Amino acid sequence: MNAEPRYTDQYYKCTTRQSQIIDVVHGKTVPLNDIPSPIDWKELFCNTHPVEIEIGFGKGRFLLEAAKEFADVNFIGVERAQKYVELTRQRFLKYMQHYAVDRESGTFENVRLAWTDANYFLSRYVRDASVNAIHIYFPDPWPKPRQQKRRIFRNKEFLSAISRTLKSNVGRLFVVTDFAEYFNEIQERIGTHTTLKPVPHNSDDYQHIATNFEIKYQIEGREIYRAVYEKM
Ligand SMILES: C[S@@+](CC[C@H](N)C(=O)[O-])C[C@H]1O[C@@H](n2cnc3c(N)ncnc32)[C@H](O)[C@@H]1O
Repeated sequence: MNAEPRYTDQYYKCTTRQSQIIDVVHGKTVPLNDIPSPIDWKELFCNTHPVEIEIGFGKGRFLLEAAKEFADVNFIGVERAQKYVELTRQRFLKYMQHYAVDRESGTFENVRLAWTDANYFLSRYVRDASVNAIHIYFPDPWPKPRQQKRRIFRNKEFLSAISRTLKSNVGRLFVVTDFAEYFNEIQERIGTHTTLKPVPHNSDDYQHIATNFEIKYQIEGREIYRAVYEKM
């Protein structure tokens, strides 16, 4: 296997200085540092519904559609690029404005945006066996050999955080990519470094909700590779 990435405390200090949790509906932003770790989901969402995490939500299409369709699931989207966090915040606000969504209606009360690094968030802020699903759609493939060490699935701390935070027997990881070589590597690394096992797609899976990248690649006619894993 190729080189491992070097994620150090210094790296996280630089990339997570401004980390925030954003409640779009109520326009509230809290520095991540001000939230006690591990996060108490009940306190964050004011309910005991299951929690699912989307990592690298980009322009936020999946997050918005999933939150709309599954109102009894709490979704927390994690994205490290500020520009995409802001774009997604605006996407929710525009939707609410366009469809005259009343802020008191409860719509999108089940969503929080986390502007931070996913590995930092999972490994420092998420309690063991507290998450029902993790969604990772079109993770950056870093195709050049010298950049491949940046692939998120190369990070063993990240893989172990996925294993640790998913609930046993129900917790599922959803992965989609258009990059065949990376897809093979992801499968191999999940098999070697986690306690997750591949499972067939169910009819209640999220496959019908396309992300922004998926829509773009479908139009281009690219092949899309999907996998679902369950924590044993
Ligand atoms: C190729 S884009 C895919 C966006 C979206 N999932 C989609 O399918 O349209 C990958 C996204 O992951 C985000 N990302 C990459 N590494 C990340 C990390 N360590 N923590 C949080 N977000 C990350 C990037 O900023 C980018 O928005």
